[in-house]
Amino acid sequence: MPFRKIRLSIIDLSLLSTSKNIAILGSTGSIGTQALEVIAANPEHFTAEVLTAQNSATLLIEQARKFKPNVVVIGNEAKYQEVFDALDPLDIKVYAGANALCSVVQMDSVDLVLTALVGYAGLKPTIAAIESGKNIALANKETLVVAGELITKLAAEKGINIYPVDSEHSAIFQCLVGEFHNPIEKIVLTASGGPFRGMKRDQLLRVKKEQALKHPNWEMGAKITIDSASMMNKGLEVIEAKWLFGLKKSQIEVIVHPQSIIHSLVQFEDGSMKAQMGLPDMKLPIQFAMTYPARLKTDFPRFNFMDYPELTFEAPDLETFRNLTLSFEAMDKGGNMPCILNAANEVAVARFLKDEIGFLEMSDLVAHCMQKISFLQQPTYEDYVQTDEETRILAKAFK
Ligand SMILES: NC(=O)c1ccc[n+]([C@@H]2O[C@H](COP(=O)([O-])OP(=O)(O)OC[C@H]3O[C@@H](n4cnc5c(N)ncnc54)[C@H](OP(=O)(O)O)[C@@H]3O)[C@@H](O)[C@H]2O)c1
Repeated sequence: MPFRKIRLSIIDLSLLSTSKNIAILGSTGSIGTQALEVIAANPEHFTAEVLTAQNSATLLIEQARKFKPNVVVIGNEAKYQEVFDALDPLDIKVYAGANALCSVVQMDSVDLVLTALVGYAGLKPTIAAIESGKNIALANKETLVVAGELITKLAAEKGINIYPVDSEHSAIFQCLVGEFHNPIEKIVLTASGGPFRGMKRDQLLRVKKEQALKHPNWEMGAKITIDSASMMNKGLEVIEAKWLFGLKKSQIEVIVHPQSIIHSLVQFEDGSMKAQMGLPDMKLPIQFAMTYPARLKTDFPRFNFMDYPELTFEAPDLETFRNLTLSFEAMDKGGNMPCILNAANEVAVARFLKDEIGFLEMSDLVAHCMQKISFLQQPTYEDYVQTDEETRILAKAFK
């Protein structure tokens, strides 16, 4: 169920007395490791029940030795034996392969699934988790971009909540607490502008991956860091927001805010605006998705106005950063178009990181796929799978 429907008059304080068992899909990544920091700081409230990685066997073993989960999954089956040998003496179950993710999220002992894995790979296990009635703490925005309609419908049918982890969406969620009965006039998603803010197309022709991988405010995995530099991240977030908060295109605005202190805003129908602020630190939205509706005390560094005497805002440069326009177009068109956008972008980022295409060509590739792949207005799950496959083939062949 979209969380706007939660009855906030009933405040569940049970969190403060019981422990939640968390399955972290992608525990070795940027979000996953920070989620484990939150768990380590609050052992009386959280247990890491499931940890998973794709290739990082050494880190997964290290995490499992420390957090003693019930189960770990290593996606790359070639690494199974290494992980099994290391964890067998600790009585930790080890599974391998993509299908294992779908099984472990359904375990009775799992209370909440944190989807901290990257890309389209998040779709299937998220569906499996929702189908078995698990609430989701959603970092994996690609899942909602690809199949937002299917996911939110399924969540409503199963009566589960999807708690946003993305800082912008968490900000909106936090602004909505106590306001779920009040219609939203619009939301404003803030964007840092990334490392190339202010640059024009002729300057971006020559930028290298090393420059694109240096985000001014956030330390994140490689894919989202490139997405931030190309503004695709904001485009994906626009589509994510549509599904999380049930919004129309005209209700979603993007503003560049280079300091990343205001994480996003909501405007209500009386004109009042609420913003959520703080230093950029993903541990806070991760923790809130795990503790909602309670807030747990933290020792995260606090914001000081005197360190930021000026908070500034500017309009996004849509001519230079075409990905934002492409994302709004894909959202507007609906059907499988956001799935095409996402698959094309995943291939574009991978090819940019391999120096196969230039920075600006990433948007050309996405636009090419959006024009060429067959459009479907009412895709099924199988249609999404096929669209993803077809788009990847076309995107890999793009010259
Ligand atoms: N990082 C942030 O600050 C941030 C903020 C907001 C939203 N998000 C979103 O959160 C998600 C994770 O981002 P991240 O920055 O944490 O990514 P990341 O650092 O690249 O970590 C990705 C995690 O997923 C695993 N993984 C990679 N490919 C996989 C596959 N095919 N199947 C299963 N697992 C796979 C990785 O395992 P290995 O370590 O073995 O590769 C790793 O544990 C993304 O959707 C991103 O958009 C991230």
